[in-house]
Amino acid sequence: MTLCYNSFEEGEEMKKIAILTSGGDAPGMNTAIRAVVRSAFHYDHEIYGVYEGFKGLVEGNIKKLEREDVSRIINRGGTVLGSARLPEFEQVKYQEKAASNLEKLGVEGLVVIGGDGTFKGAQALMRQGIKTVGIPGTIDNDIASSDYTIGFYTALQTAVDSIDKLRDTSFSHHRCSVVEVMGRHCGDLAVYSGIAVGSEFIITPETGFDKAKTIKAVQDSYDRQKRHAIVVVTEHMTDVHQLAKDIEDSTEYETRATVLGHVQRGGSPVAFDRVLATEMGEHAVMLLHNDVSGRVVALKGQDIVDFDMDEALNMKKQASNKRYGLYGRLLK
Ligand code: F6P
Repeated sequence: MTLCYNSFEEGEEMKKIAILTSGGDAPGMNTAIRAVVRSAFHYDHEIYGVYEGFKGLVEGNIKKLEREDVSRIINRGGTVLGSARLPEFEQVKYQEKAASNLEKLGVEGLVVIGGDGTFKGAQALMRQGIKTVGIPGTIDNDIASSDYTIGFYTALQTAVDSIDKLRDTSFSHHRCSVVEVMGRHCGDLAVYSGIAVGSEFIITPETGFDKAKTIKAVQDSYDRQKRHAIVVVTEHMTDVHQLAKDIEDSTEYETRATVLGHVQRGGSPVAFDRVLATEMGEHAVMLLHNDVSGRVVALKGQDIVDFDMDEALNMKKQASNKRYGLYGRLLK
């Protein structure tokens, strides 16, 4: 649900806001940082950068940002603020310390960029009196409240470029390639890249893993006289090296496994992620400027909207059956 913003009374507005990036980095985080900083200036706020996520917040690693600090980062991968995972942030003593570090600087509002874990950290800070807004930034596309998260399309492009290269060598050698992509518990990177490369089979948390079915799909491909086959697998679903061995033992294809790994997290953000990050960054600042907090920014269809943070965290991502069925319908 989108909110309606009333303009704020002179003199009441929040003067200082801060920004941090947390969890796994994602291409486009820098673009979002730039948008938040520049929008903050546009609306006459001072803006502080928190380095190394919640860890930096607890340690007081916070610096006032100037315009120049976000110059030339619109197209840079990673996050210039750094990121960290801090499981200890569940403890109230760390939350209190983090909130007091912001209060000491007179910072009232905080923009956090990351995934579910990051939003939970933001909720904890809200309980300590800090106004927070979340921006979804993760390559996994696993934030149910938003159609897309910042970084997903860049990681997808990286996966597709890599699988295209694997296909070249697979084709030459008459092989099957088993490719593991990231995604944590979400199959979007696997299903979108599988569609984009014309894979034979996709294994994701949504489909589950069925070894016999996988082997049959690969053998069917051989029977159709395909020179190569591609199986895309979401991480944690199965041991892809063992799967490659099983495919090789049970079909006519020699088979190799490749784990794409952290290469998917790097690189210059594609245009879609840059536009998304810029729009979401400005929207987050607009919320705090209007004294609205406890919201998560999202893309719904063509629109940038925002949801209550609790509501957003409780949403369940719906896998598209149509999309999952699509690659299978194109094999014959
Ligand atoms: O959430 C992003 C992500 O890259 C996941 O796809 C992956 O499971 C995880 O982070 C890896 O985390 P780390 O960088 O801590 O190994």
